[in-house]
Amino acid sequence: MDDLERHLDELSDRGLLRRMRLVSGPQGPRVLLDGRPVLLLCSNNYLGLADHPRVREAAADAAMRWGVGAGASRLISGNMTIHRRLEEELAEFRGAERCVLFGSGYLANTGIVAALARAGGVVLSDELNHASLVDGCRLAGAQTLVYRHADLEHLEWRLREAAGRASLIVTDGVFSMDGDVAPLAGTVELARRHGARLMVDEAHGTGTLGPGGRGAAAAAGVAEEVDVVVGTLGKALGSYGAYACCDATIARYLVNSARTLIFSTALPPPAVAGALAALDVMRAEPQRVARLGRNARLLRDGLAAEGVDVASSGTQIVPLVVGAPAAASRASERALERGVFAQAIRPPTVPKGTSRLRLSVMASHTRSELRQAARAVAESLPPEALSGREAPLDARALAAAAA
Ligand SMILES: Cc1ncc(COP(=O)(O)O)c(C=O)c1O
Repeated sequence: MDDLERHLDELSDRGLLRRMRLVSGPQGPRVLLDGRPVLLLCSNNYLGLADHPRVREAAADAAMRWGVGAGASRLISGNMTIHRRLEEELAEFRGAERCVLFGSGYLANTGIVAALARAGGVVLSDELNHASLVDGCRLAGAQTLVYRHADLEHLEWRLREAAGRASLIVTDGVFSMDGDVAPLAGTVELARRHGARLMVDEAHGTGTLGPGGRGAAAAAGVAEEVDVVVGTLGKALGSYGAYACCDATIARYLVNSARTLIFSTALPPPAVAGALAALDVMRAEPQRVARLGRNARLLRDGLAAEGVDVASSGTQIVPLVVGAPAAASRASERALERGVFAQAIRPPTVPKGTSRLRLSVMASHTRSELRQAARAVAESLPPEALSGREAPLDARALAAAAA
C-alpha cells in the first residue's frame, strides 16, 4: 500500500474521510442528491440568486458578448470593461474609494494577507478565522499572533505584544462555521488605538447583514473604518469570485503586490455579469435580505422548539455541534434519510471535538420547508445534543476535552 492510500485509510479510520456528492440541477431549496430529492440546507446561495432568472440570463448574455474566459491575468491582457464596471458598482455599494476583483475568496484572502503582512510585521488573527485567512498568514512574511475567538481583551494583549511593528488584524465578519458575528466596533477601536490596519472578511456578511445586505461592519456602523473589506461573489451574490474594497492607495498596492491577483487569470465574464445582475437584484429587492433573516429565525425557533440548542448563532448559519466526527457524519446521514441535506463539518475545518452539522438557510426556503427541516434535523441528532441534558453543548468545552 502506498503512502497516499495509507493516509486515506487513516482518515477513514478516524471518521474524517471526505467525498463529493452528486447534485443535479441548480442550488435551489430542493435538489436531487445522488438521484434522491432532498431539501438543501447547506448551500451558501443565501438569497436564492445563483438560480435567479435575471442572473442566469446576464451570465449567458455575457458569454455571447465577451466570451467565456478572460484570457489572462488582468495585468497581462488588460482589465475588461465588465470587470471595471463590477469594481465600480461594488465600491459604490460599499461606500469605498476603490474595489479590486479577485478570482475567489480563497485567492483574495491568501493574496491580500500575504501582501499586507510583510516581513518584520505582525498579523493578528482570530482563532476561528476561515482557512483562507489562515493560509494567508502562513504565506505572509509577518509573524502571526492568534487571538482567542472574538476576545477583545486577548486581541489587545496581542497588540501590545506587537507594539512597534506594522500590524494587521484579520477577522471573519460572520464566522463561517459558527454563524456568530465578530465584535467589529471594538475591533475597530483597538485597531485605531494601536495603529493597526484592519481587514474584515465579509464572505458570509455580504447580502445577509446590515442595511441592504452591506455586511457585518455596516451593521455595526463601522464600515468606513475598516481598511480592507473582502467579500465573495460566490455566496449571497450567487456567482463566483471575490473582491476587496479599500482606499486608492491600498488598491494600487494590491495590484502591485497581491500575487494571487497578479499571477492568476481574471474572472470569467459570465461570472462577473452574473454578480452584477445579482447586485442589482439585491439592491432592487431588499426584502430578500429581510426574508433571509426571517427564515434564519424560523429555523432557529423550529430547532429550539424541538429541544436543540441554537443559542450560539444569530445568523443564517446555524451550527449544531455534536463532538466526534463519526457522530456528525451519522447525524448527516440520518437527516438525509429524512429528506434533508445538512452537511457534517469535521476537522480540520473546525477544531477537534467540535464536529457538527452546519445548517445554512436561504431566503428561498418556505416556512413549511424550514419546519420540516427543523424536525428532521432534530430527529437526526444524538440525544446528548438536545438541550435539557445536564451540561449544555459548548463547542469550546468539547474542544478542550478533546485536545
Ligand atoms: C469566511 C470565508 N472566507 C472566504 C471563503 C472563500 O471564498 P471562495 O469560496 O470564494 O473561495 C469562504 C468560503 O468558503 C469563507 O467561508
